[in-house]
Amino acid sequence: MQYRHAGPADHGALDAVLVSAPGRPTLPVRLTVELFGRARSHLARPDRVCVWDPCCGAGVTLTVLGLLAGGITALTGTDADPAPLELARRNLGLLSAGGLDARAAELDALAARHGKPAYAGAAAQARALVPIGRPAWSVGVADALDRERTRAALRDRAPDVVLADLPHGRQTSWAPADDGAPTGPGAFLTAVGSVLDPGAVVVAVDRGRTVPVPPGVRPLERLRIGHRAAVLLRAGQLH
Ligand SMILES: C[S@@+](CC[C@H](N)C(=O)[O-])C[C@H]1O[C@@H](n2cnc3c(N)ncnc32)[C@H](O)[C@@H]1O
Repeated sequence: MQYRHAGPADHGALDAVLVSAPGRPTLPVRLTVELFGRARSHLARPDRVCVWDPCCGAGVTLTVLGLLAGGITALTGTDADPAPLELARRNLGLLSAGGLDARAAELDALAARHGKPAYAGAAAQARALVPIGRPAWSVGVADALDRERTRAALRDRAPDVVLADLPHGRQTSWAPADDGAPTGPGAFLTAVGSVLDPGAVVVAVDRGRTVPVPPGVRPLERLRIGHRAAVLLRAGQLH
């Protein structure tokens, strides 16, 4: 895949500022920004974009977009597992006024306690970062396959872009559906698409050569990025 929307900046510094945890894989920063840029280019109104990550985990995807991608007014994260949502709140808190300074102070304290210069470097990075915008954000628990729960979690928000790094079976796996219904990319796309406006764009990333889509659906774009594949779809195709 050729990068059209995200330059080759050194994003390692941002990784050090974000809060993560073992066993919680995240998308590379540059790929996140690129996929959002591509999704946005398919929107009729690319200047006031609401983004939803229905598998938000530690909220890294959303926080990266809030810090680096323009035109975003709101970020919403939901996940079937409540465990990572505290991390998501901490990461998204970086977008609030004073959030990056508070994180820098935390990293300075870690540097002093553990005598590790890497923490001091990350603190300096946190102080140097200037978020491109100040989108409103929220996170909540919802199984993406449960339309009623996701509608309730979205409240009055109407996402324009969905960006989801799907569970891929090694470090993260699909939460079992309450009613024993099938899980996986196809079921996910159908369920998520059904709660969106037809013009919204859904981006799903999976490990492997391709992301399976429901029968009859014609993607806007299909991409291969190393060991990952991504698909961009118009929500109306999923109705
Ligand atoms: C690869 S991780 C996503 C990481 C996330 N984008 C981030 O920035 O931290 C996949 C996530 O999907 C969640 N998940 C699994 N099954 C789900 C389901 N049915 N509905 C919603 N989330 C689900 C997992 O709990 C996990 O947090």
